Amino acid sequence: MDDLQVRDAGVEILLAPSVLSADFGNLAEAVGEVAPAADWLHIDVMDGHFVPNLTVGPPVVASLRNHTGLYFDCHLMMTNPGDHLEAFAKAGANGCTVHVEVGSTRELLSEIGHLGMAAGLAMNPDTPFDAVEPYLDEVDLVLCMTVFPGFGGQAFMPEVLEKVALSRAALEARGSGALVEVDGGIDEQTAALTVRAGAQVLVSGSAVFGHERPWEAARRLRQAALKELASGQVGW
Ligand code: DX5
Ligand code: ZN
Repeated sequence: MDDLQVRDAGVEILLAPSVLSADFGNLAEAVGEVAPAADWLHIDVMDGHFVPNLTVGPPVVASLRNHTGLYFDCHLMMTNPGDHLEAFAKAGANGCTVHVEVGSTRELLSEIGHLGMAAGLAMNPDTPFDAVEPYLDEVDLVLCMTVFPGFGGQAFMPEVLEKVALSRAALEARGSGALVEVDGGIDEQTAALTVRAGAQVLVSGSAVFGHERPWEAARRLRQAALKELASGQVGW
């Protein structure tokens, strides 16, 4: 949990490029290219059931672990994440985020923690904040999906900003060190909007890996986010 304490570490924004938009046939090289400009690596795990797409699982996480020391932020878009948590821990995941929509939330968060990983809880754009509120004392991270999960390259949904602000305010009110993460359609413009609403961890796939120089795209995203923070208009 220590490596999640943004404020204690004096860091205000964490940038988490999503490998979903990277070249899966050349993943280690793609990650190496973006690593100098990244804080975390976001790994999207899709099971073809909770979302209508299939991606990667623990073997790919374990292989990538041989190539980078980056923090692995695994986003489990799975109906039965509990069946695979141990495998993700063994593969070298640092954090696992499960969706509140799949249920068994308390058990899943507790197991993630027992396995030595940071526990994240995600909600889809149409899931109300009330669904995650009962678990705020048990999480290290709240993920507000700013698109419906399943695919990269979708348009950011501004209506989620209100939930970003609610999440940050509720965590601050509890004195929690848990982080608010946003995922989906994040580019320089939308990053600024989410930071203004209270987001601390920015996931970005196509805006980073779709760029011919991914590290430059990542740096510019961070600059846009930090500029917004410095503007003093941040509030939640
Ligand atoms: C979508 C995934 C995202 C995806 C974001 O289901 O959870 O992490 O990679 O991609 P962009 O940034 O292209 O919206
Ligand atoms: Zn994701």
